[in-house]
Amino acid sequence: MVTATPIYSNTGQRLFPANTVLTSQQISYLEFYGVLWVQVIPESEINESSGTEVPESSISGSAVPEPDPDTESYSQKIKRSRKFHTFKVDYSKKTDALKDSFSHLIDKTQSLDSDVLLDQVSSLYSNHLTSLSVFDMLHNMRQIDDTTYAHCINVAIISRILGGWLEFPEKDLELLTLAGLLHDIGKCKIDPQILSKNGPLTSEEFKQIKKHPALGIKILEDFPLDERVRSAVLMHHERCDGSGYPSGLRKEAISEFAKIVAIADVYDAMTSNRCYRKGFCPFEVIATFERIGFERYDSKYLLPFLTHIIDTYIGNTVLLNDGSSGKVILINRQALSRPVVSTATDKYLDLSKHPELYIQSII
Ligand SMILES: [Fe+2]
Ligand SMILES: [Fe+2]
Repeated sequence: MVTATPIYSNTGQRLFPANTVLTSQQISYLEFYGVLWVQVIPESEINESSGTEVPESSISGSAVPEPDPDTESYSQKIKRSRKFHTFKVDYSKKTDALKDSFSHLIDKTQSLDSDVLLDQVSSLYSNHLTSLSVFDMLHNMRQIDDTTYAHCINVAIISRILGGWLEFPEKDLELLTLAGLLHDIGKCKIDPQILSKNGPLTSEEFKQIKKHPALGIKILEDFPLDERVRSAVLMHHERCDGSGYPSGLRKEAISEFAKIVAIADVYDAMTSNRCYRKGFCPFEVIATFERIGFERYDSKYLLPFLTHIIDTYIGNTVLLNDGSSGKVILINRQALSRPVVSTATDKYLDLSKHPELYIQSII
């Protein structure tokens, strides 16, 4: 798709000019800004010369080409591993079980049993995997299963990991996991054709989508549930700058659990594969968060989240946009997505001092 008009964020910032080819990365970028539809040039009018430009100011501060298949080895390595295979089998069982649980809750044919629900995900974050491996597994699973149930499992696990980094007590971690699991249950009441629509949503359709937090609360109203879990279901689309929905609440009015689930939710959306996205680069996702995330998400939770994720990539070999590669040796606290990299020529390259360079992928 090629944009027909310039695209602006809700706050009036120009994101892309007209005539931009919307690659997977541009689309993720728009999703991140909450842009739900854009006007595109009809296919019949696109000719060879139009729409080949990607603006300088796109993700990571410059144009990001689609990753070369040669650079996908990190992901391929994970997918080939026995650990991933075991995880995949378990994960598929859990998404099926969650689907059943949701439909019983919706039909009110079963009561809400937190232990049963938690049991459906606990093996996925169990001891034999480090937090980093869980992130890598989840990311690679998203290329296979992109349903609401898979998303809820991911958000549950990511919320739990973030809660752990924040040193929450075990009981709270369980509630946080439950909040993640249930946060989008209201989507089960939304027309699936709207949820899976491959194209711009009409304002009416968007209005329908925006109802899912309230629909979720309605589904859960008769069940005994901690108020913090309910608040996360209702408020996970509220944003600290007041730009969220359904109520446009600001920072102080949004519950702690909702703020944590919101970060896990958007991180999962940003790293999702949606079948068209080839590569995954945590540095790129973190760069986007660094640029625009701090107004919308509570830095009390966002900063530890980004710092922990990025720290786990120290020692990994990365490919830069100029084709060179190097090892991440030091994270810059002021620019998490721009670490110091030791390159093949043995030179220490501080990416925070080289705006023209960025990490394209992990190899
Ligand atoms: Fe949601
Ligand atoms: Fe969600």
